[in-house]
Amino acid sequence: MSSILVTGANGQIGSELVDTLRARHGDAHVIGLDLRRPSSDTAATPGPPSANGHAPGSSDDAPFVVADVRDRDALASAIKRYDVGTVYHLASLLSANGEKVPDRTWDVNINGLKHVLDLAREHEMQVFWPSSIAVFGPSTPRENTPQNTVLNPSTMYGVTKRSGELLCQYYHQRYGVDVRSLRYPGLISYATLPGGGTTDYAVDMYYEALRSGSYTCFVREDTRLPMMYMPDAIGATLDLMRADASDLTVRDSYNVTAMSFSAGELADTIREHLPAFSCSFEPDSRQDIADAWPATIDDSTARQDWNWTPDYDLEAMTADMLDHLRETLPEDAESIER
Ligand code: NAD
Ligand code: SER
Repeated sequence: MSSILVTGANGQIGSELVDTLRARHGDAHVIGLDLRRPSSDTAATPGPPSANGHAPGSSDDAPFVVADVRDRDALASAIKRYDVGTVYHLASLLSANGEKVPDRTWDVNINGLKHVLDLAREHEMQVFWPSSIAVFGPSTPRENTPQNTVLNPSTMYGVTKRSGELLCQYYHQRYGVDVRSLRYPGLISYATLPGGGTTDYAVDMYYEALRSGSYTCFVREDTRLPMMYMPDAIGATLDLMRADASDLTVRDSYNVTAMSFSAGELADTIREHLPAFSCSFEPDSRQDIADAWPATIDDSTARQDWNWTPDYDLEAMTADMLDHLRETLPEDAESIER
C-alpha cells in the first residue's frame, strides 16, 4: 500500500492521529513530519511560544521526517521516498500565536498548503486539511452558524483558514484534487497540550483543576464556544476521508461540532468531580478573538452528507478527561482530591 503522511505530527491533533493511523495501518505506512523529532522535549515551533513537544506514542523507528512545510523540495522528497498516497496536512500556527507573528502565519499556513496541493496534483494524492471556526467573524450569525454564511475573519489565522478553504475548493474544481476539510471547533484532549490557540483554556482548566485545584481563565465566564473531544475529532476526520466522493457536497470545508458550553459551565462541570476546584476569570487579548467566533454551529450538512455524529457531550468528555489525566498526573490529582 502507499503511505500516509501527517504534517504537524507532534501537535495536539497530529500526535493522536498518527497513533490511530499507525494502529490501523502499521508503523511503517504512516510517516510523521514536523519541525523536530517527536522525542524532542523542547517547543516544536521555533517562532512563537508553543506548548508542544510531547512525543506521539509510536515506536522510535517509525518513519519521521524533520522538515518545514514551507520547503517544497523537502515535502516532495518525503512524498517520493515513502510513496505517499494520502496527506493529513495539519502543520499550522494557531489563532493566538498567529496574532503575534502574522507574516509567518500566512507563510506557514498558506504556502505550506499550496505546496501540499501542488504535490497532490502531481502525485494524485488524497489530502485532508483542517479549517476552523476562525473563518467566521464578528458579523457572522453567532447562534446555529450556517454552513454557508458571512465569512469575515478578524485574525490572520482566520484569514489563512478561509483563504485555504478557497484554495482547496479551487484545486478540487480546477484540477480534480481530492482534498477534504473540516472546520474543527475548539478541540479538547489529554494526550498532547494544545499549541497556542484561543480555545486552549478549555484544556488548561482540566489540567489545573487536577494539578493545583485552581485556574485563572483568560476568557470571561460567559464565553460560549463550540467544542469537540479529540476522539470525535479523529473519528470525524477518518470518516470524512473514507466517505464516498459522490456524497460530498462541500469542497471548501464542512461545519462540524459536538457541544457548546461557556467557560463558567465548564468550571461547574469539573466541580461536580472536584468540588474544591476554584476558577477565576481574567480576560486578556484572546477574549476579542473568542468574541468574534460563533457560540453554536449548524453542522447538518455534514450529518446529511457523511453521517457525522459525535459521541461525547460535556459530561461524558469531562469524566473521560479527568480519568485519563488522573493517570498521567497521579500525585497532583491525589493531593487535590484529598
Ligand atoms: P498544534 O499547534 O498543536 O500543532 C501544529 C504542529 O505543526 C506543531 O507540532 C508544529 O511544530 C508544527 N508546525 C508548525 N509550523 C510548521 C512548519 N513550518 N513546518 C512543519 N511543521 C510545522 O496544532 P493542532 O491543534 O494539532 O492543529 C492542527 C491543525 O488543526 C491546524 O491546521 C489547526 O489550525 C487545526 N485546528 C485545530 C484546532 C484545535 O482546537 N486544536 C481547531 C481548529 C483547527
Ligand atoms: N482551537 C483553535 C484555536 O483556538 C481554533 O482553530 O486557535
